[in-house]
Amino acid sequence: MITETHFKRLVIAAYRLPFQFIQTKKGVKAVQNSGGLVSAILSLSETFKKNGSGVKQKIVWAGIADNSSDNPSFVDVENEHFTIKPVKLPQELNDLYYGGFCNDLIWPLFHYFSSYSVFNNDYFKAYEEANSRFCDEIVALIQPGDFIWVHDYQLLLLPEMLRKRVPDATIGLFLHIPFPSFEIFRLLPRHWRESIINGMLGADLIGFHTHDYTQHFIKSVKRTTGIECHQNLIYTANKVVKADAFPIGIDYDKFHSACLNIKVLAAKQRILKNLLGQKLIFSVDRLDYSKGLLLRLQGYETFLENFPEWHSRVVFNMVVVPSRDTIDKYKEMKKEIESTVGRINGKYSTLAWRPIIYQYKSLSFDELVALYDVSDVGLITPLRDGMNLVAKEFVACQVENKGVLIVSEMAGAAAELNEALIINPVDHFVMAEAIRTALEMEPAEKLVRLERMQRRLSNYNVFTWADDFFEETSGIKRQQLSMNVKFINDAILLKITEDYRNASRRILFLDYDGTLVAFNKYPELAVIDKKPLEIVKRLTRDPRNRIVIISGRNKEFLERQFNQIDVTLVAEHGYFIKRGNELWEAAFDQEANWKESVMPILLEYVRRCNGTFIEEKTGSIAWHYRNADSDFAQLRLHELKDDLAEIIRHKTDFEILEGNKVLEVKCGKYDKGQAANALMLNDSFDFILAAGDDKTDEFLFKALPDVANTIRVGLSPSVAKYNVSEFSVLLKLLEALVA
Ligand code: UDP
Ligand code: G6P
Repeated sequence: MITETHFKRLVIAAYRLPFQFIQTKKGVKAVQNSGGLVSAILSLSETFKKNGSGVKQKIVWAGIADNSSDNPSFVDVENEHFTIKPVKLPQELNDLYYGGFCNDLIWPLFHYFSSYSVFNNDYFKAYEEANSRFCDEIVALIQPGDFIWVHDYQLLLLPEMLRKRVPDATIGLFLHIPFPSFEIFRLLPRHWRESIINGMLGADLIGFHTHDYTQHFIKSVKRTTGIECHQNLIYTANKVVKADAFPIGIDYDKFHSACLNIKVLAAKQRILKNLLGQKLIFSVDRLDYSKGLLLRLQGYETFLENFPEWHSRVVFNMVVVPSRDTIDKYKEMKKEIESTVGRINGKYSTLAWRPIIYQYKSLSFDELVALYDVSDVGLITPLRDGMNLVAKEFVACQVENKGVLIVSEMAGAAAELNEALIINPVDHFVMAEAIRTALEMEPAEKLVRLERMQRRLSNYNVFTWADDFFEETSGIKRQQLSMNVKFINDAILLKITEDYRNASRRILFLDYDGTLVAFNKYPELAVIDKKPLEIVKRLTRDPRNRIVIISGRNKEFLERQFNQIDVTLVAEHGYFIKRGNELWEAAFDQEANWKESVMPILLEYVRRCNGTFIEEKTGSIAWHYRNADSDFAQLRLHELKDDLAEIIRHKTDFEILEGNKVLEVKCGKYDKGQAANALMLNDSFDFILAAGDDKTDEFLFKALPDVANTIRVGLSPSVAKYNVSEFSVLLKLLEALVA
């Protein structure tokens, strides 16, 4: 159950407000806006309190104001369940934002209609502007303890904008449409792509309808930003974000019980009277090319052609709900649908029978439920649909258990409706066959199929969906908090600097890549910048300090970077040590020719994984995969480890070291921890600091005494005492020490 432990108040940010207001002769009438988003959130808000939620404050719903929101009755009508916050946009901006970026680009692209996508710089500017106006409105109204729930593709930049202004806000984002595969997503210009991913990552939790969409998103995060992800967790610079699947549900009881309402019963009687014993096939969708309306008509036509015995015995009621009809593609499609309906009706109609009843209008809730209920077949065949609530509502309204659902495999809902007849919407022969199967299905089979789907839909309804989302947000917030405890805050920084100042003998171990220097595509180009070099120099000037650069790099590279500076260098993870001006010492003797057994295997993996390369050092060989496709490289990495395990079984002094996007094989039991111990032997220090960014530094952290200030750069789990989000933060800390 949702309680005040989850949040004190829910603030919804969605493009659409729940209603539009229409002036009729009888006065202003509130008509529900169409679409799955409004349906789901409206159900949620209406029953928020009824269902025993422990949250006392009314839901706030921020959405785009149409002219009707200036109407005084607007606020009155909504007051019962939520407070409306209309966001006003000038018409021209809205045209470029909603008609342009949202529905001329993102909608077609994310539904895999890439050829319909229009790329226009003004669209993107308007998208930024509109998101930022939403941000202003929300920042002005939020209070501590609010949960800001951002919805859908119209507001993908909003979470990051909010995060910048209110860093500790609780923000959830739910995408109601598919997130496409990276191959589609990458069609967006790089800057837009990055803005969208970073915008979304401003949220704490990002929800999608299916596991596939979640995986597509995570892949796009990795490919667009290079950010580290472990399963569903995304480690951004300053927090961990979770992406997960939450298949949206419906208010099952509302639909199921409505079938017995007096008004619905009356509507059913009217429909049955008109049907004259004919079977009814029903579909209802917003006007949209993603809904596969023309292909559905083609499938029905094939059915009429192949199964003439059904002529005059069946009627297809196709309801198309007006939507976005100012956009050219939608206008064109409407014309095409109407002419196709006309053609099919012209071809098969008789004096007494019309095979298609086409309606272009919105239905009231009672009419909709009555139609779901009396229909023998629900024909829901989108070409691509994030979820499709209509399919679920149809199942919920089968109180007499006589309807059969035919659903497209391209709808997110198909994953939960296994007992429906699942078809490919493009294959009109299969669709025709499925219609016949549905019409001729035995009652016992219909019952079994429906009962299973109904049980599932009633168990995982719109409330459990929202509960899950809130619960997981609380979980990720807790995780962020537990990591925050390890983050170096002002108080910890003060303590470290004080300890440093009071100490008479200090040792500082600093890893190189990812710690003093940002990563580069090619290791030889990752040379140290002036600023960190200057800090290191200043640290070495204090006679109480001993500065150790402790790295996996080879000796020549380190010498070039720290030429003429009084530091101790540890190269190749501890294989070589150079104290100040002394000569390099090798930590131990290695087996001759040991590389012969390893090199061919690593070379094979360079061939098998494009973008990877080998770096040969004295004591090890490294396979770098930073520049390869990250998912593919992970696959090859597992295989490589399996292959190497075979060799390691026989050669006990071989070891595998895993660093940041690099796997290294070395011969000999040495690591950064042992090197540190060797350097501290017979000496005592009253201040110890060690900083590093990858698994090889964990040896160092483990080897040091408890009093040491060990710091892991990045958010990954670590034995280190503290984390800092990125290397620039560590530089600030070092700067504070020498200040
Ligand atoms: N719906 C509506 N008005 C109508 C007919 C249907 O608001 O005249 C509702 C329907 O009950 C469903 C939603 O619109 O909840 C459509 O959601 P779906 O997920 O099927 O598709 P979307 O429109 O979101 O693409
Ligand atoms: C889908 C989208 C919603 C949108 C709805 C209606 O359900 O996911 O975000 O609101 O369609 O479309 P419209 O353009 O009228 O808002």
